Amino acid sequence: MKYIAEPFKIKSVEPLRITTREYRAERLKEANYNLFGLHSDDVYIDLLTDSGTGAMSDQQWAGIMTGDESYSGGRSYFKLLEVTREIFGYDWIQPVHQGRAAEKVLFPTITTPGQYVVSNTLFDTTRGHVALAEGRDIDLPCAESRLPEVASDFKGNMDVAALEEFIAQHGADTIAAIVMTITNNAVGGQPVSIANLREVRSVADKFGLLVVIDAARYAENAYFVKQREAEFENATIRDITRETFALGDVFTMSAKKDAIVNIGGLLGVRDNPELVERLKSAVIAAEGFLTYGGLAGRDLEAMAIGLEEGLDESYLQYRVGQSEYLAAKLDDFGIPYQKPVGGHGVFVDAGALLPQIPWHQFPGQALALELYLEAGIRSVDIGSFMLDTDSATGEARQSPKEFTRLAIPRRVYTQSHLDVIADALHAIKERAAEVSGYEILTQAKVMRHFTAKLRPVSR
Ligand code: F0G
Repeated sequence: MKYIAEPFKIKSVEPLRITTREYRAERLKEANYNLFGLHSDDVYIDLLTDSGTGAMSDQQWAGIMTGDESYSGGRSYFKLLEVTREIFGYDWIQPVHQGRAAEKVLFPTITTPGQYVVSNTLFDTTRGHVALAEGRDIDLPCAESRLPEVASDFKGNMDVAALEEFIAQHGADTIAAIVMTITNNAVGGQPVSIANLREVRSVADKFGLLVVIDAARYAENAYFVKQREAEFENATIRDITRETFALGDVFTMSAKKDAIVNIGGLLGVRDNPELVERLKSAVIAAEGFLTYGGLAGRDLEAMAIGLEEGLDESYLQYRVGQSEYLAAKLDDFGIPYQKPVGGHGVFVDAGALLPQIPWHQFPGQALALELYLEAGIRSVDIGSFMLDTDSATGEARQSPKEFTRLAIPRRVYTQSHLDVIADALHAIKERAAEVSGYEILTQAKVMRHFTAKLRPVSR
């Protein structure tokens, strides 16, 4: 497959360090087999996340110098407000320090303890904040999302029939909100169609429910809509974005993804002054005054610039092209992954690659550890290890799929890095039968995968 050349040239570089397998084996032991515990100097290619790990442009760095650090009424805040109102079309938009800050402010404000938050699939921090607000998380992704080998255009969609059934069974008043995660991270960075968002909107309207868009990768989603949804083939990414957000009531966003900044987030509300007033008090208490929202003025400036860059179609084509290139290499080696590949990386089907490891010994985590051992590449489990225990019963839960996510940071790695990643996975595939599972020694109640300690299960 042809690699789409970078639509930029490189102005600043950061050296990488290559280590030995023995050295890496020691580091894994020290980190209690949790890749979050590694020192980044010991990582060669870091695919742990595409969050806050992108390379800012020269324009963004210039913005860092011109950011206004006033406590209140800063110039950079007004610039961000102008840019975000234009992109999203919401009347109230609030900067916060990252995505989960928006979640922390929003969920306790809209959730009565015991209420459900129903989603096309919540990401881990969102699930955590629903639990912390004493809500109950329900994922209703479309059936195709569970079939990695079946390529279909919008595997991120909500199963709308299941949503209606859930409402009929439990009653609309038991539901705090419907959350649409775009792209749908946990099922593979898979896009959600405008058609699906429209259907969800009409169900929400029928029952008077709030639609919250988790917008971390909204620009990648809009790019897929343009590619795959006939109605939008001639629309601009900006038009599709407007269409998307018009179908929500509230959005939370980690700007560390599609706004290509190292830190930052947004919270937006459309036509709901009463909710805005409640959120404002929560923001001031948790994040700081409204015109900086937990960020420095320079961060607001970089975010305003990065939002524009993240919507550029040639950038998005290159961006998604990187995932597609890596996926095509995995096809050559017969390595299974969530097909078609998503926007922010490749989700290897570790459950299929390592069938000898049961879900409660975490195939996705085992493959991630193996990849580090093999080549110093850091990835992350998106499977039963990441999924917290049931917030009501404390019982372990099986994830529908066991993925190892290779998240590609924005504008950071080149074609040859992607080749190294594919070759390392190929080598692991050759000895896949020897890989064993892991068990948890200690874990937190919420968002356990960040800090849990594990040990290998001997076979
Ligand atoms: N929502 C989605 C869909 C996310 O992917 C993330 C973060 C968040 C919310 C929270 O945002 O990190 O800025 O607080 N995802 C990262 C990841 C961490 O690796 O996928 P945050």
